[in-house]
Amino acid sequence: MKRLFWIGALILVLGSLSLAQQFRTFPEIKASGKILIGTEGAFPPFNYFDDQNHLKGFDIDIGNAIAKQLGLEPEWKAHAWDTMLIALNQGRFDFVIASHTITEERAKAVDFTKPYYCTGNVIVSRPGGPQTPEELKGKVIGAQLGTTFEEFAKQFNPKQIKTYQTNPDAVQDLMMGRIDAWITDQFTALEAVKSRDLDLQISGLLNTEQIGMAVAKGNSLLLAALNQALDEIQSNGVYEQISKKWFGKDIRCK
Ligand code: ARG
Repeated sequence: MKRLFWIGALILVLGSLSLAQQFRTFPEIKASGKILIGTEGAFPPFNYFDDQNHLKGFDIDIGNAIAKQLGLEPEWKAHAWDTMLIALNQGRFDFVIASHTITEERAKAVDFTKPYYCTGNVIVSRPGGPQTPEELKGKVIGAQLGTTFEEFAKQFNPKQIKTYQTNPDAVQDLMMGRIDAWITDQFTALEAVKSRDLDLQISGLLNTEQIGMAVAKGNSLLLAALNQALDEIQSNGVYEQISKKWFGKDIRCK
């Protein structure tokens, strides 16, 4: 009887351990030679699919440079934004690089690397539309679901916040007049307007956010390896070259 109890207890403990740790440690990743990287694929110019259906963008170049620095072959997986961190904790990829702002709330669920760039939010509207926080009062604001943009929009007393699965969906509604303003990242805003020569105005910068890569909660060896690789590409010129290619300047946090 006593023995049965202990066997039962052992099974429970082992069971919960394996549940808690659904990730590959860095030595395991190293041994496989491949690192699985998750991203979204709908956030140009950071991560998006080009005409040939290839993943492109700043996040992709940085992810590839980090994999190379670690001596690993990258294998990319696109995943919906709103469930990406859940998928990460389920072990669907080893790390995520999808322009996640480092927030306290998210840091309860996953572990973030040091920021790999700094940026901020802007208001995008049609000519004559809102361009300041005050002008957003009573307006309909669009933002991508589950982003810091959505959270950020709440403080302006809007009439409504319309949420979208992806950023490009919000641009479309803004052009159609279904929302008064779109809150998004400064570089994403610029890319959306420039790439299709849209008649839209972009406000000045409203805040600063630090953007990080994420690993499953507790994957500390992988976290340390990513931080070290980031340090290395930021000091050997690789990061700067990638940043200049996409933005004409170095966007690392100052
Ligand atoms: N930085 C913002 C956030 O973390 C937006 C990121 C959106 N990224 C994306 N791949 N759609 O909430």
